[in-house]
Amino acid sequence: MEVNPSHVRLSGCGSRGCASGEAHKSRISWLNESVTQESDFVHGQTRHRELSDLLTTYRWEYYVLDAPTIPDVDFDVLMRELEHLESEYPQLVTPHSPTQQVGPPADTSFESVTHPSIMLSLDNAFSFDEVRSWHGRASNLVDDGALDESGFISEMKIDGLAVDLVYHNGLLVRAATRGDGRVGEDVTANIRTISVIPSRLNGDVPGTLEVRGEVYLPLEDFHQLNESLEELEKKPFANPRNAAAGSLRLKDPKVTATRRLSFLSHGLGLCEVPVATLGEAYEHLVSWGLPVSDRVYVAHNIDEVFPYIEQLGEDRHRLPLEIDGAVIKVNSLAMQTQMGATTRAPRWAIAYKFPPVEVTTKLLDIRVGVGRTGRVTPYAVMEPVKVAGSTVEMATLHNAVEVARKGVLIGDTVILRKAGDVIPEVLGPVVQNRTGGEKAFQMPTTCPECGSTLAEEKQGDVDLRCPNQRSCPAQVRERLIHLGSRQALDIEGLGEKAVDAIVSAGMVVDESEIFDLSAEKLLSSPFFTKKDIVNKDSTIPVLTTNGEKLLEQLQSAKTRPFARFLVALSIRHIGKGVAPTIAAHYPDIDALEEASLEDLSGIEGVGSILAESIRSWFEVDWHQNIVHRWKQAGAMVASATESGQLEQTLAGLTIVVTGSVPGFSRDAANEAVLARGGKTSSSVSKNTDLVVAGEGAGSKLDKATTLGIPIINSSEFAQLLDSGLW
Ligand code: IVH
Repeated sequence: MEVNPSHVRLSGCGSRGCASGEAHKSRISWLNESVTQESDFVHGQTRHRELSDLLTTYRWEYYVLDAPTIPDVDFDVLMRELEHLESEYPQLVTPHSPTQQVGPPADTSFESVTHPSIMLSLDNAFSFDEVRSWHGRASNLVDDGALDESGFISEMKIDGLAVDLVYHNGLLVRAATRGDGRVGEDVTANIRTISVIPSRLNGDVPGTLEVRGEVYLPLEDFHQLNESLEELEKKPFANPRNAAAGSLRLKDPKVTATRRLSFLSHGLGLCEVPVATLGEAYEHLVSWGLPVSDRVYVAHNIDEVFPYIEQLGEDRHRLPLEIDGAVIKVNSLAMQTQMGATTRAPRWAIAYKFPPVEVTTKLLDIRVGVGRTGRVTPYAVMEPVKVAGSTVEMATLHNAVEVARKGVLIGDTVILRKAGDVIPEVLGPVVQNRTGGEKAFQMPTTCPECGSTLAEEKQGDVDLRCPNQRSCPAQVRERLIHLGSRQALDIEGLGEKAVDAIVSAGMVVDESEIFDLSAEKLLSSPFFTKKDIVNKDSTIPVLTTNGEKLLEQLQSAKTRPFARFLVALSIRHIGKGVAPTIAAHYPDIDALEEASLEDLSGIEGVGSILAESIRSWFEVDWHQNIVHRWKQAGAMVASATESGQLEQTLAGLTIVVTGSVPGFSRDAANEAVLARGGKTSSSVSKNTDLVVAGEGAGSKLDKATTLGIPIINSSEFAQLLDSGLW
């Protein structure tokens, strides 16, 4: 990819996670004014200061606030410009220049840790030519031909954050973030919650071992985390890296434990056993029980590196984690030492950064959608275009303020970006393609579905909402789709098309009537009707197979566990994450209705916002009607079987609970297992089926690991109670 300063101007504050769009926009236009052919030293000096200030701010936002205001690619462009400037005027290089720094200084809210050996960053290459140039420079640092004899390790550049793990005699004693490379933050307690990082190593281990690697959040968990944050109406993370960094730097390890962080090793610091190559080091790490990527490739010469990068680029969107390039490292550790490092990065490695995937397409329209909670969201309808492995024709524009900030008009050619596996995003218009026929978007003042006047929920909200919660067809439709979704009652036949048919035929006024659907009602829609031939002259309307199946599925959904009904009720902020915890304390809707605000907010993991939300939900008449009608239909009694017992999800299993499980005392956790037909034990043996390892789990966890007994963490406990071993 050619580095193009116009990226900076075009894309503006494109990042979904942009925390201060306006501020960034003004910084960018200020930047435009100074992007000129400045050749003399004074101008160079001014530009150097501007770039240094900008990059320092962006670094702070990225590393410390976990809220970048500029896409990575634009950061790289600015850094490149600074590097070029410094190569032209070496007298501008100071130890404070962003080109000389590895990251931000360590945050003072965690204990500072001086790393046993310095943690460096990587230099970047943006094209294969730049990789070849690096290879040329690197070859000159060693004997002729020696580099290719050593070979290269090619591996994924994981978009996470670097950590340093220190093991003494095989025991994890400390873990720290990279910080400024010399001093990082002590995040040992949080690192201990990451299940793939062993607290004790296997086999013959060196006295002291320093392992470097990347903590990351797998994409599936990133999406789930953002869903639950959105459920809580909290700001979602911009990308998996920020989510991982934010999660690792939480003050409460119990919360970090719920985030399902993962880790892959990518190097060694101190190591007291002789190792000749990086490949060999990785083999040792695996034998000691540390995770190493299975996509590490040993290339015998530089030419073998390129097909690897190309293949990785092709596979990138199918991987379960976000990567932003490939890293190429000299395999021989002796040669690495010989080649050394600059203040910032080793000379023996280079990061090849994938180009961002940006395309242009036509913005055909901006429409608005009404969501389950009535939020009215403008979205872009575009000419379908292939980007990063999938065809995109729609992208959210979030709200009217965002539309104005992006400056897009209907009819514009727009730039669409998909960085990695993240949601496609309209960056902005290609202004020079305008014909004059483009139209500005007007945010409607009334609901496009039911005509109610839109309003902010509270003063100053950027979002507008349709207040007709009970009967707005769009909201009823979205609630029904949610009710049938896999996270709620899992009713396969209640997909979008079926719900559309049910709502448009007026079969239900709201979800209170969903269990009253009958063959007769379904037959009022052509979607559920087919013609049965009685004889050659006459036919009668009968249910389609889908219609029949839907009735059967509705019948069996009536006995789903209570936690699923809790999700199905569309109570604000109650999603599949917290519902099992609530259901574990209140086994049915009557018990929940009786619960006081204090009791509810006292449950760990629930808190006052959710408690308020539950209480106020019960205060609405038509919500009460849902409860009444569902009970009348025999639904929502699922947790209790006919005999009044909880569903025996753990029958036949012997379970050991160790450490603390949020929301449960040790007795309560054991009782919850017993009440679901499981057996509990206070010690781990070969007869144990499963260990639930909460915060502070110790020797029982080690024994379970040695015996190879399945282990789940405390955040999975609620799901275990709900659905048994999945
Ligand atoms: S090696 C001295 N290998 O990229 C070598 N780093 O942009 C430094 N990263 O700070 C690290 N994947 O956080 C290495 N396979 C990989 C990596 C990797 C991601 C990160 C790491 C580093 C940053 C530099």
